[in-house]
Amino acid sequence: MNGKNGQTDGNGINGSNGHGIGGGNGHGGSRRALITGVTGQDGSYLAELLLAKDYEVHGLIRRSSTFSTGRIDHIYDDPHRAQVNLKLHYGDLTDSTGLRRIIEEIEPHEVYNLAAQSHVRVSFDQPEYTADVVATGTLRLLEAIRDYMAISNNRPRVYQACSSEMFGSSIPPQNEMTSFHPRSPYAVSKVASYHYAVNYREAYDLFVSNGILFNHESPRRGGTFVTRKITRALTRIKLGLQEKLFLGNLDAKRDWGFAGDYVEAMWRMLQHDRPDDFVVATGETHSVHEFLESAAGVLDMDWRAIVEFDSRYLRPSEVDVLQGDASKIHRELGWKPTVNFERLVRMMVDHDLNLAQREQTLVDAGHVTRMQASGDE
Ligand code: NAP
Ligand code: GDD
Repeated sequence: MNGKNGQTDGNGINGSNGHGIGGGNGHGGSRRALITGVTGQDGSYLAELLLAKDYEVHGLIRRSSTFSTGRIDHIYDDPHRAQVNLKLHYGDLTDSTGLRRIIEEIEPHEVYNLAAQSHVRVSFDQPEYTADVVATGTLRLLEAIRDYMAISNNRPRVYQACSSEMFGSSIPPQNEMTSFHPRSPYAVSKVASYHYAVNYREAYDLFVSNGILFNHESPRRGGTFVTRKITRALTRIKLGLQEKLFLGNLDAKRDWGFAGDYVEAMWRMLQHDRPDDFVVATGETHSVHEFLESAAGVLDMDWRAIVEFDSRYLRPSEVDVLQGDASKIHRELGWKPTVNFERLVRMMVDHDLNLAQREQTLVDAGHVTRMQASGDE
């Protein structure tokens, strides 16, 4: 990783492969933002948005044995170049020392805490780890910012990624006044993160806003979330690259929006004159069954012939219906979604059909097997 003088200390993977991790602060005149979870779906859209607004963007990235920067490679440049506006730093929400060091080095004006073990089903298998990252990880970050405020004259604004999962079994439509009834270790941890944020606002005058975002998807959505799992599978089945799609509960209803719209809401929250909590949603709800129907319709397929039930995808306690009432953010920040359900489904299907066609070309040419093309091998 690069130090303050821009030297490499041996930990950074630098240079021509496009995955260099650089840290030098090289503070210029622009606003600086730190994004935790920059390699995730939302982190990649938010980094694009902030770069377009001339921010210097710093991203926290976990060390892993394979590259995890696929979603941000197109906006990442060699850190040795003079004018690099996206800088990556190794760190982890489970490592408070590293978080403190990075905050002190970057001196951010805005911090977006998006990092999380974000899969609800997985949180039942790894509840303790999920709590460590999602709940205690948020606390670690807030503590690092609180201490940084004490040693500097700065007051970074903080966005905390909360979730509609916190509402759980509360009756829809849900808004900022609806009580929380979390139904998974993930949701319980997000409720804790929400309350940590409110407490730090009240106790230490931190500018921290909670975004209570309903489900938002995109062609960059992780492949184990139901929407992307469906669009990847249907398009691959259409081209003969896969035979079946195994799913769990098709009756659950979600308020699905487009991730690109939702990162704009995050940014607006931090430009507001005071910290607050906002629900971000489309106001429409659709079942998994309807998503399937709609995606299959775009491809002119009959999903009933290819979808099979697998109980492994059921949750010990399910959230049946989420439908957001986002009138507060409409009214106070002027935010509105631009992509509706039908357009979202089509966007994801079109993207994944193109991906499947490229896979098919490789398979037909004998370069890869069907399994390799799917990434399963
Ligand atoms: P995502 O695609 O799963 O991305 C999660 C990010 O967190 C990845 O960059 C991941 O890094 C990183 N991460 C995981 N554990 C970490 C750790 N211990 N330390 C540092 N980084 C870690 O999630 P998303 O859909 O972009 O969601 C962003 C945030 O919004 C999450 O907090 C999620 O819980 C919340 N949220 C999402 C939705 C939604 O519908 N998408 C709705 C409400 C709230 P790797 O790339 O290395 O795995
Ligand atoms: N993942 C998955 N896989 N879900 C399935 C499947 C399957 O094979 N079959 C049915 N489902 C159902 C789930 O039971 C759930 O009711 C619904 O599809 C949506 O599941 P996910 O796409 O995994 O999303 P989620 O709603 O549990 O959580 C997402 O949204 C939250 C906001 O409400 C995640 O992005 C969370 O991080 C986020 O906080």
